[in-house]
Amino acid sequence: MEIKAIGCEPLQLKRMHIEDGHTLKVYQETGGYASLRKALEMSPDDIIQTVKDSALRGRGGAGFPTGMKWSFVPKDSPKNKYVVCNADESEPGSFKDRYLLERDPHALIEGMIIAGYTLGASTGYIYYRGEYNYLIAVMDKALAEAREAGLLGENILGSGFSMNIHTHTGAGAYICGEETALLSSLEGFRGHPRMKPPFPAVEGLYASPTVVNNVETFTSVPQIIEMGGTAWRDLGTEKSGGTKLWSISGHVKKPGVYELPMGYADMEKFIMEDCGGMLRDDKKLKAVIPGGSSVYIMNAGQILGKGVTLDYEGLVEAGSMLGTGGMMVMDETVDVMETTMNLSEFYKHESCGWCTPCREGTDWIVKIFHRIAAGNGKPGDAQLLLDICDNIEGKSFCPLGDAAAWPVQSAIRQFPDDFMKWLDKKTNGGITANV
Ligand SMILES: Cc1cc2nc3c(=O)[nH]c(=O)nc-3n(C[C@H](O)[C@H](O)[C@H](O)COP(=O)(O)O)c2cc1C
Ligand code: SF4
Repeated sequence: MEIKAIGCEPLQLKRMHIEDGHTLKVYQETGGYASLRKALEMSPDDIIQTVKDSALRGRGGAGFPTGMKWSFVPKDSPKNKYVVCNADESEPGSFKDRYLLERDPHALIEGMIIAGYTLGASTGYIYYRGEYNYLIAVMDKALAEAREAGLLGENILGSGFSMNIHTHTGAGAYICGEETALLSSLEGFRGHPRMKPPFPAVEGLYASPTVVNNVETFTSVPQIIEMGGTAWRDLGTEKSGGTKLWSISGHVKKPGVYELPMGYADMEKFIMEDCGGMLRDDKKLKAVIPGGSSVYIMNAGQILGKGVTLDYEGLVEAGSMLGTGGMMVMDETVDVMETTMNLSEFYKHESCGWCTPCREGTDWIVKIFHRIAAGNGKPGDAQLLLDICDNIEGKSFCPLGDAAAWPVQSAIRQFPDDFMKWLDKKTNGGITANV
């Protein structure tokens, strides 16, 4: 398991290999909390402008500009405001946040306090996925250290600003990573997504203005304050600022968590050189899911020799999305029909059941996959899967529906042979026109 930065100085990964990097002592010895001191001297408007200048885009998957999100919080609201960290990290293929939570908890705390000061929020929550329960003790200890040192709690560093942060754990439901479902869960209700608008920035936790950001988004903030917005942006590209963590798994020799500058060139080099190339030397690259399971699967032809840059724009241009940067690499031994069936089972299981297209559609998709896998596929099954996806995509209450449809749509389009092979077993060919 590699944990390293390539093409940039480690920022997110700065303390990953330092002994006791998770403690307040080492955090401060390595520059920690200097940004908080600096931020407390700045005006909230200046901080928002700095974050806007940085071109930081939310690292939880949607890539929404963070500075803009923060600016949506109404300044004149008489209600309490909240800062919530989304540490649900349930996206298949994504495991970067886990390392930040475990090895650099003070970076998250510092980022959240800066956000709280900027937005006028006196309470913060860190929402952990149920399976990360074992990591909460690390954060609780770090929070206690920060409180003891006057960095958290009443009158932080004598600034007059007070804030507290609490940890909270979910029960392992993927949908609770969706920000409004997370807020419902945090309030003690079942984790159903809520109607947007109103967006959480205006009406979030307890119907009050709330900023929800991903772990890596918050840990970027102290770096931005330290370096200045444009300097941080210039580590990446104009539209995708800074550096980004990638979780890479599957058939590569060196899986792990890598920090790359946004716009890193290119995806082929990253997989074939930086990550050591294919796990088995005699096997060719077949497929890559670049951004966690909720994005389009790519075939080798979309990557090799194509100069795909690793940023939001580059991956869209190449036919997929950056998502959370959870890159899963597959060699030619993989049957993409089976991989997609596996992913579809996940989405069916995790559908919260609130809306019909997703609840019924994910179930139908899995039923069709199962009959194909049992050798009972029908000639029109590939087209039937595409039709069902069409009735889920854009027609569901929350983005989980789209996320369930995209892998199936792209798998059938990019790997028709893997589907035909299964359907041919029963039907002896004849589905080409359906794909
Ligand atoms: C089904 C679903 C699951 C999600 N899971 C996560 C998650 O585990 N972590 C996360 O940060 N964002 C997740 N998101 C995205 C959040 O809804 C939200 O966009 C994000 O927390 C905002 O933070 P950011 O702007 O810093 O990315 C998920 C979205 C959906 C639709
Ligand atoms: S799209 Fe799926 S997960 Fe989202 S609200 Fe509808 S049923 Fe629930």
